[in-house]
Amino acid sequence: MPEVIRWGILGTGSIAKKFAQGLADTTEADLVAVGSRTKEKADAFADQFQIPIRYASYQDLATDPKVDLVYVATPHPFHCENTILCLENRKGVLCEKPFALNHREAKLMIKTAREQNTFLMEAMWTRFMPAMVQLRQLLAKGVIGEVRMLTADFGFRSEVNPENRLFNLELGGGALLDVGVYTVSLSSMVFGQPSQIATLADIGQTGVDEQAGVLLLHNQGQISILNTAIRTNTPQEAMLMGTEGQIKIESPWWIPTRITVKGEMHDIPFEGNGYNYEAMEAMKCFRAGQIESQIMPHQETLSIMKSLDQIRQQWNLTYPSEQKD
Ligand SMILES: NC(=O)c1ccc[n+]([C@@H]2O[C@H](COP(=O)([O-])OP(=O)(O)OC[C@H]3O[C@@H](n4cnc5c(N)ncnc54)[C@H](OP(=O)(O)O)[C@@H]3O)[C@@H](O)[C@H]2O)c1
Repeated sequence: MPEVIRWGILGTGSIAKKFAQGLADTTEADLVAVGSRTKEKADAFADQFQIPIRYASYQDLATDPKVDLVYVATPHPFHCENTILCLENRKGVLCEKPFALNHREAKLMIKTAREQNTFLMEAMWTRFMPAMVQLRQLLAKGVIGEVRMLTADFGFRSEVNPENRLFNLELGGGALLDVGVYTVSLSSMVFGQPSQIATLADIGQTGVDEQAGVLLLHNQGQISILNTAIRTNTPQEAMLMGTEGQIKIESPWWIPTRITVKGEMHDIPFEGNGYNYEAMEAMKCFRAGQIESQIMPHQETLSIMKSLDQIRQQWNLTYPSEQKD
């Protein structure tokens, strides 16, 4: 396997730009190609990040033999189709969160990765940051005993704009899939799959969930209390409550740089813009010939997608393009 991994970026929106910057802060990554739906955007993106190959089609990017790994950065309803296109052309894929629109799509994507024996990972970037690595180590050592409860919120205030993908059902809009997924993922990392879910949401005028509260009950009685919003600023904190103390992940917890362990603050800085860590994990796995990451395994991505489906089901919220399990 080559030491230098040749990346392609599929889609040229806001997160694609951040990821391109993140890649520049890794070693042994070469951003060789970008694919867009239009030539203008492909050229503009390629010029901005000095990318030699630019395509006015996702298909051309996916079939380029000079590309090893593709980062999929399109809105959620296209993750499944775009990822499968790349996997079928034997490209490894790092796919943005939420991994898919629903569990059914996620299953198809993972099935394809397994059939093609090709790497696939959900780009849940928070998990790979140094503070989260340290948090997992502290929990494994039992520093706060047995974790019994967790609270996490991810909410911000934005103005209603039907053109914005956040408020557009056709583009998978709503708080849960955009930012609530971080809180569900944190709960999954700490407690695993829930056994029971209770939730209420406020569905706004464009039909998307503008804010919601979610309660997850886990097998040993552990509880996660999660809030998510796109119309309300929340404290953006996470707290883990154990039998022998608490750990707080300071705001904004999904870009963690400080954790407070039993009242004692620890600063855990990160390098680059943070997106470099997920890229490094993807490259490490890809080089090792693995088809999944142990830090963000397929089974866990599927379980998170299942929870997101079950939450939306309680609100009767479906997306126009989705098919059910
Ligand atoms: N990890 C994070 O921190 C983070 C942050 C923000 C977003 N995200 C995730 O990343 C994904 C993209 O979000 P974003 O904020 O970057 O979105 P965005 O700015 O709207 O960009 C999405 C890009 O996808 C492509 N695309 C393909 N079909 C499209 C369609 N029908 N409508 C609009 N764009 C389409 C476009 O690129 P071309 O025109 O070049 O084809 C567009 O520039 C979402 O799934 C989101 O949840 C992750």
